[in-house]
Amino acid sequence: MEENNSKKLRRRSTNINVNSAEFKKAGYWLVDQIAALFEEMDTRPLTTIKSGEEIANLLQQKAQFGEDGQPLQTLIEGTTEFLTTNSLYNGHPGFMGYITSSPAPLGVLADMLAAAVNPNVGASTLSPAATQMERQAIQWIAEFIGYPSDAGIMVSGGNMANFVGFVAGMRAKLGLDIRSTGLINTDKSPVVYTSRETHTWIQKAMDLFGLGTDQIRWIGTDEHRQMNLEELDQTIKEDLRNNKNPIMIIGTAGSVSMGVLDPLAEIYKISQKHRLWFHIDGAYGGFAASLPELQDQFAGFAMADSIAVDPHKWLYAPLEVGCTLVKNAQYLTDAFSYHPPYYQFSNTEVNFVDYGLQNSRGFRALKVWLSLQHLGINGYRQLIREDIALASYAYQLFDADPALEVVSNYLSITTFRYVPLHLKDRDDEHTLNYLNKLNQTLLSRLNHSQELFLSNAIDQGRFLLRMCIVNFRTTTEVLDKIPGLVKKYGTEVEQEMQLTS
Ligand SMILES: Cc1ncc(COP(=O)(O)O)c(C=O)c1O
Repeated sequence: MEENNSKKLRRRSTNINVNSAEFKKAGYWLVDQIAALFEEMDTRPLTTIKSGEEIANLLQQKAQFGEDGQPLQTLIEGTTEFLTTNSLYNGHPGFMGYITSSPAPLGVLADMLAAAVNPNVGASTLSPAATQMERQAIQWIAEFIGYPSDAGIMVSGGNMANFVGFVAGMRAKLGLDIRSTGLINTDKSPVVYTSRETHTWIQKAMDLFGLGTDQIRWIGTDEHRQMNLEELDQTIKEDLRNNKNPIMIIGTAGSVSMGVLDPLAEIYKISQKHRLWFHIDGAYGGFAASLPELQDQFAGFAMADSIAVDPHKWLYAPLEVGCTLVKNAQYLTDAFSYHPPYYQFSNTEVNFVDYGLQNSRGFRALKVWLSLQHLGINGYRQLIREDIALASYAYQLFDADPALEVVSNYLSITTFRYVPLHLKDRDDEHTLNYLNKLNQTLLSRLNHSQELFLSNAIDQGRFLLRMCIVNFRTTTEVLDKIPGLVKKYGTEVEQEMQLTS
């Protein structure tokens, strides 16, 4: 018999499998730190003001990937200290920039549990419980927003959720052969219709999935900043006359910049008339469809062939999690499924690998599944309602201040700008440019104040300050401070501008 020369390896010798006592020590310590972080969130500086380079230099000094490893407890303590003192907190009550919500503490625990079990939610057999929990969470989301189908998938965020709907629509309209032949053999170029307010995911999608950004028909907006229906219909007709292939209309339920909802019911009718796929980007506003008082604005929402929503926005899930819903799961399998010989997964089970772009998938659904149960329908409706009410409160508060000019308030987004009293009622180009520069510098100053964090919108050439409230820690107390801060820094910036001009 051939001798087995290989050495037996009865015990593994690296530190990766830390012993239970060491794991608990680090884990309990970490949970205490996270709890303290949440307790002190209101009083912490909202953000670091160090530059990227300063932070990179600190890392050079503090962190190392050397020949030998380092003790786990030391690493956890050092990293917690580093990260908590050099970060921006979107959970701070003054954070109203962009659309990143404050993370629900339950989501933090959920992510930890998900990582510990580590199911691969690409295939049901690899994630027997997690696949069914993800399906249930998707079903609850569909019920919550009133979408009539629970066929869908969780993805990493709004961009990806829109991509999934986009590809499903593209395959449905261009036919399955396109998957093998590619676009090269299409004689009429496929075109897509969307409003100028649409988020930049559409450019990425048209680029990445081979249609090309030149095939986007940017439809103008009307006086309500909504997609212009007349222009939409006319543009489709013109493309048909010019031998193009219209395939899809994209409506937005809560635009990224100002929160505007397109006239979804009317867009649906136009999509039906021309037999086009109707996709709705509800990444920001989609969950507000759950509010009974907003049903008029959301009319037509349930009619879409596909919808993107983003639990890491208005469901307050920690990053990352988005979700796509489609009218029928077949649209997803038609777009994404392959059956390689090395995957012999059951074809009677849902295998999420067949529904989207990812192969191995984490259990990002767990935080959503838990939070939906934690808050219930009423809890979530209340949170969303309060965010909307706070943005409206801010609009009225700023409107009452002679140095602030309010511009818009849709859903939980309010835009405004600082206009010093001596420049009121001046609308010449020089004043516009001056105010733009003033407000741009003011925004940067506000965001360095470590109390408040806003973002911007551009409307009719005007640089605006934009606040988007998707934050369960924000209250009127925080909003009441904003006019004072804006005027304090606004005056400061104006003095500096006058000195240098
Ligand atoms: C309307 C809209 N669509 C898509 C996105 C992209 O979402 P994500 O950043 O989660 O990819 C955003 C982000 O703010 C958005 O507001």
